[in-house]
Amino acid sequence: MAVSLIEWNPEFLVGVDKIDAEHRELIELINMLHGYLELGETKSVVVNLFADLYGRVTKHFAYEEAIMRSRHYDQYEEHQADHQCLLDEITTIMCDWEGNSLVNNEAMTKRLYDWFCRHFQTHDARLHNLVGITD
Ligand SMILES: [Fe+2]
Ligand SMILES: [Fe+2]
Repeated sequence: MAVSLIEWNPEFLVGVDKIDAEHRELIELINMLHGYLELGETKSVVVNLFADLYGRVTKHFAYEEAIMRSRHYDQYEEHQADHQCLLDEITTIMCDWEGNSLVNNEAMTKRLYDWFCRHFQTHDARLHNLVGITD
């Protein structure tokens, strides 16, 4: 049985229920990816999970960006740019993995882990300051 790489941590909470719930789901997906790699799942299974992760991350970012735009958020540009960096990073990691240039599974999930933790605790942590977020 594979061990979860990322333990959910209250420090990740940003204080907006929908965003916090989605962050938890994204972490669960990364842990699932980690587990699949540990178990030696087939390439197609891993690729499908990557595609699922990419899709859910894209949707999550779109939600945050829509809220920020509607409230004329002061750090919209920086936050949006960091989102784009992660989408590029996921694509790069997937390509590296498919091309076998990223042979260390721990290193792969750790790259995702590091990014998410940093983003949650910096850019996303400021979102609770936005007025009127109820969902
Ligand atoms: Fe964000
Ligand atoms: Fe987020």
